[in-house]
Amino acid sequence: MTPDHPRIRIDVHGNGGTSEECLEEIRKALLSSPRRLPTKYLYDDQGSALFEHICQLPEYYQTRTERQILAKSADEIVAHTRARELVELGSGAATKTRLLLNAMARANQLHRYIPFDVSEGIVRRVAQELIQEYESLEVYGVVGDFLTHLEHIPPGGRRLVAFLGGTIGNLQPEEAQAFLRSVHQEMAPGDFFLLGVQLITDTGRLEAAYNDRAGVTAAFNQNILRVMRAVAGADFHPEQFAHVARYNARQHRIEMSLRSLRDQDVRLTELDLTIHFARGEEILTEISTKYNRHHVEALLQSAGFVPVAWHTDPEHLHGLALARKP
Ligand SMILES: C[S@@+](CC[C@H](N)C(=O)[O-])C[C@H]1O[C@@H](n2cnc3c(N)ncnc32)[C@H](O)[C@@H]1O
Repeated sequence: MTPDHPRIRIDVHGNGGTSEECLEEIRKALLSSPRRLPTKYLYDDQGSALFEHICQLPEYYQTRTERQILAKSADEIVAHTRARELVELGSGAATKTRLLLNAMARANQLHRYIPFDVSEGIVRRVAQELIQEYESLEVYGVVGDFLTHLEHIPPGGRRLVAFLGGTIGNLQPEEAQAFLRSVHQEMAPGDFFLLGVQLITDTGRLEAAYNDRAGVTAAFNQNILRVMRAVAGADFHPEQFAHVARYNARQHRIEMSLRSLRDQDVRLTELDLTIHFARGEEILTEISTKYNRHHVEALLQSAGFVPVAWHTDPEHLHGLALARKP
């Protein structure tokens, strides 16, 4: 807990990703076949800033499309849920969140915002911004991993839990199912869940969104290797790994990787491990699964939710599913 301001409380869990458990997770991911790195490590302070930049790129249609849907449907969502508190998982810069907070304020229902993110810097910044923007709003930030620390969400009043930006697509299918079940378990009966998903569209548009001309997504991807220096004492040289993002049509997902540009050994002192990367070998850093409405509603139902509304844009690029815990 930090006494930044009487209306702010921030709890930090998981030791900033440097615990033994996290190091073991990194070891397992790097030694798996194909090699991987856990996606959450893309988001240190620098990675979060780069992601904010990505959200403004012309190729990255996802953010502006979700904003457009929220601008149209936030009042209806708030009226439907009658929520007094907004919990947001993977809240990031909470830019689009303002549309929901504004709708709650208009309905005289805005009491508390609970951002939950792995990136401590951004949770602190957003908390400071929001108490300036919303008179009497309380912010209870939770810094942690939403796959393991959900039980640290404080109990409270009638709630809307939001998971926006298509972040669910970053989870492997079995992880996404288990995650939705845990979210459901943490919610009270009668609470609502708002899930933002990216919908299946043409490959050209999808691949362009992850291969922007300005190279910001490439820098975002390579940043994970800098994070590995700090977290695992790894002597990765990011310029020796190229950004790769391509659409896997069979699994409806973008796969983002780093491809070794030469034969090289990387030492990870915190893991007491040396890994040989052959030229051309890839490390998978992120998947981003695209859905259709049927798939999303089936996922929600299998976690125990009842889908109650579906909002989309005219081109059906993005969906917002509202569901209730009965
Ligand atoms: C794709 S961004 C979306 C950000 C924002 N919700 C939006 O729609 O623009 C994913 C967010 O989830 C956070 N995140 C990723 N993995 C996480 C994890 N395992 N636990 C908690 N937060 C995580 C990142 O720090 C980042 O802010």
